[in-house]
Amino acid sequence: MRILVTGASGLLGLNVALEAAGEHTVFGVVNTRPLETKEFHVLQANLLNKGEVERVFEASRPDWVIHCAALANLDACERHPTLAHKLNAELPGLIASTAKERGARLVHISTDAVFDGQKGNYKETDQPHPLSVYARTKLAGERAVAEAYPKVTDHAPSAATQASAAIIARVNLYGWGLSGKRSLAEFFFNNLQAGKSVMGFTDVYFSPLLANDLGNILLNMLAENLQGLYHVGSQKSLSKYEFGVKIAENFGFDPNLIRPTALADAGLGASRSPNLSLCVDKLIHNSSISIPKLSTGLSRFYALYQQGYPQSLKEMGISD
Ligand SMILES: NC(=O)c1ccc[n+]([C@@H]2O[C@H](COP(=O)([O-])OP(=O)(O)OC[C@H]3O[C@@H](n4cnc5c(N)ncnc54)[C@H](OP(=O)(O)O)[C@@H]3O)[C@@H](O)[C@H]2O)c1
Repeated sequence: MRILVTGASGLLGLNVALEAAGEHTVFGVVNTRPLETKEFHVLQANLLNKGEVERVFEASRPDWVIHCAALANLDACERHPTLAHKLNAELPGLIASTAKERGARLVHISTDAVFDGQKGNYKETDQPHPLSVYARTKLAGERAVAEAYPKVTDHAPSAATQASAAIIARVNLYGWGLSGKRSLAEFFFNNLQAGKSVMGFTDVYFSPLLANDLGNILLNMLAENLQGLYHVGSQKSLSKYEFGVKIAENFGFDPNLIRPTALADAGLGASRSPNLSLCVDKLIHNSSISIPKLSTGLSRFYALYQQGYPQSLKEMGISD
């Protein structure tokens, strides 16, 4: 397959592009962070500029598109809501309509953060309740994709209930990235390696997948021709404290460096979502895809480190 991956300099996109490159012809779009790699074709484009989406589709002529580009930094979204809206809400619609026109299948990446975290174990049928500019614009992006790339049905559904022929994947992830400090796992790794003590929230739950494993799952979802909204995370959830301890144990660092902390005691001003865990039953029931266990993902995170993977990513970044 010819695969177009946007956000290929980002945490998810880079790992997805590298996972796909073993078997497919991959074109990875970067914007401000150039990449030098023999693994896949790098296309530079600011996708917000007129004609750029069309140009990268023409250059790559993809069978499959994995749209990872976004403004995914929560604080940056609060500071730049207009940019967040363009990137997270409008661009996905343009990517989806272009993919549809050209007959390419699409996975659009969304987030567990569309929920408020009051309930946890969220299913695709649960009502989103976004609490931030990031979450609101990401939810609007999902809707734009569903509208621009609808399923063909006998009776036209209303835009609000429109079923999408594209895959919309709500995810949570960790992994090694270009900057070495993008993911929570890198945060724990960097501090623990330096012998620094850090807080770990005991009452904040999530369902993270290793970006490389998530990449393979997304490729399998395309291969199995899935459509519509899917939650894609680890089958079991855990607290951020437990996650940090597992990282410490895998790398042989002192787990006591992680201070078990309740969210209320952390002195953080902004409201946080306590339980964003995702229910992945729909994915399991509708596909033959197996989701790696948390322990398997964390072992691979460590194995990648031993293989020099983080360093090889850094060397790809020309200006990072
Ligand atoms: N990271 C998480 O924990 C997490 C959790 C849940 C969901 N997600 C979702 O997963 C997806 C990927 O997130 P991530 O963490 O990998 O993001 P990231 O590391 O912040 O990377 C963002 C990517 O988007 C690209 N981009 C930004 N503006 C662009 C533009 N105008 N034109 C072209 N490309 C542009 C960036 O390119 P340059 O860097 O080259 O400028 C970069 O490659 C997003 O949809 C995010 O909402 C992430």
